[in-house]
Amino acid sequence: GIMQDLSGTSHLEKQLQKKLGVAKAIVVPGDNDQSPWVKRELGKACVNCMKQRVKADNIIAVTGGTTMAAVAEMLPSEIGKKNLLFVPARGGLGLDVTNQANTVSAIMADKTNSHHRVFYVPDQVSSVIYESFIKEPQIYEMLHLIKSANMVLHGIGEAITMAKRRNTTAEVMDKLIKGNAVGEAFGYYFNEYGDIVHKVQTIGLQLEDLHGANHVIAVAGGASKAKAIKAYMKQAPPSTILITDEGAAKLLVKG
Ligand code: G3H
Repeated sequence: GIMQDLSGTSHLEKQLQKKLGVAKAIVVPGDNDQSPWVKRELGKACVNCMKQRVKADNIIAVTGGTTMAAVAEMLPSEIGKKNLLFVPARGGLGLDVTNQANTVSAIMADKTNSHHRVFYVPDQVSSVIYESFIKEPQIYEMLHLIKSANMVLHGIGEAITMAKRRNTTAEVMDKLIKGNAVGEAFGYYFNEYGDIVHKVQTIGLQLEDLHGANHVIAVAGGASKAKAIKAYMKQAPPSTILITDEGAAKLLVKG
């Protein structure tokens, strides 16, 4: 078993916190790459973390991905008594529906009898379109809502895996490979030093907006995501709470 101190923090969690410079690290047993049940454990740990921090009338912004979907599945209805509003962190048209932030946010609201808002705008746009889109009153209002979220829940992906999942052009793929991109979060691709190799022009939450949220919870597990987690954490706000698994954590404290 994992040795824990009186506060319930394990040695591995303490080491990880220090290594990555995050406010808190929570490590669940196992490796998400090896066992499918680990994702549910990540989900449960995130739910516990949310329960301790969420306040009445909070707005919660969520990203897409299978890990966030696991969080949604684990949400108990009681948490909905706080009158929460779930919003997707970004638009989603053009992506596989099950992986979309819109879908995850809707499931979270459904599980907790809470409200949610959908944001049906393209996931990626050109800068010309972006500038005119954000002036549309409805889009402007949604962006304002998303950026005022009290809590942000997000995944972290391995760069090439995420690029393949999205409709990434050969040109951008080349840029990612040449730039040694290892991690992705919020449409930003990072190399191992945390430098931004490429940024997808998404309509929604941007990296700098994270500093405005009271609570930012990153959930990502599996040894294959260790490099991605390390890279992203170089840019993440120091208030970030990382929820991961032993598979990733053991590599992270070593490397
Ligand atoms: O941005 C990263 C993705 O949300 C991670 O997706 O949880 O399916 O690995 P995943």
